Amino acid sequence: MFRIAVLVSGNGSNLQAIIDAKKEGYLNVKIASVIADRDCFALQRAKDNGISTYLLSKKDPNFQNYLYNILTKNADLVVCAGFLSIIEKKIIDRFRNKIINIHPALLPSFGGKGMYGEKVHRKVLEYGVKISGCTVHFIDENVDCGPIIFQYALPVLDDDDVNSLSQRILVFEHQLIVEAIKLISLNKIKVEGRKVTILS
Ligand code: GRF
Repeated sequence: MFRIAVLVSGNGSNLQAIIDAKKEGYLNVKIASVIADRDCFALQRAKDNGISTYLLSKKDPNFQNYLYNILTKNADLVVCAGFLSIIEKKIIDRFRNKIINIHPALLPSFGGKGMYGEKVHRKVLEYGVKISGCTVHFIDENVDCGPIIFQYALPVLDDDDVNSLSQRILVFEHQLIVEAIKLISLNKIKVEGRKVTILS
């Protein structure tokens, strides 16, 4: 069965969406491991569902080596679902177009180093853009820059704050990440340079 590793750092609602989609039979994949770079609620979600977990320390000089070793043993696809560490080139080279990330804005806007979580939504609101959304993309060596698989746009409302905007976007993050995993696991995604197409 197609094996995925899910990388997490926080609440793990995207991980939960993946677990639920598998339970419902929408995703026919094995969640082989959940790997965290800090203690977080996502780890608990994984344990509650009998998934192997790994807690790695970013301070450990072998952090990236451990990550590499776990992934090479048990992942066909690596899913960054709110993972806050930057993945080193050796792993990106080994998993070229096999690592995906969910970002809570419409890339290439409001992305890049240091743009994660609430910071993204705060910048979106400060800038006054009328549309935001989320992006699922492959990871390459530049932060938030790899080929885009899916985007979903929704209006920024006049009375939105960071919380309301992030909550509305999160609903679509969950759908996009599950859909991307499904299509990749079915080998229905083609990548040519930056261009990603869905095969019928
Ligand atoms: C999501 O908004 C994701 O896009 C961002 O971090 C958040 C993680 O949410 N990278 P969760 O941990 O999956 O609930």
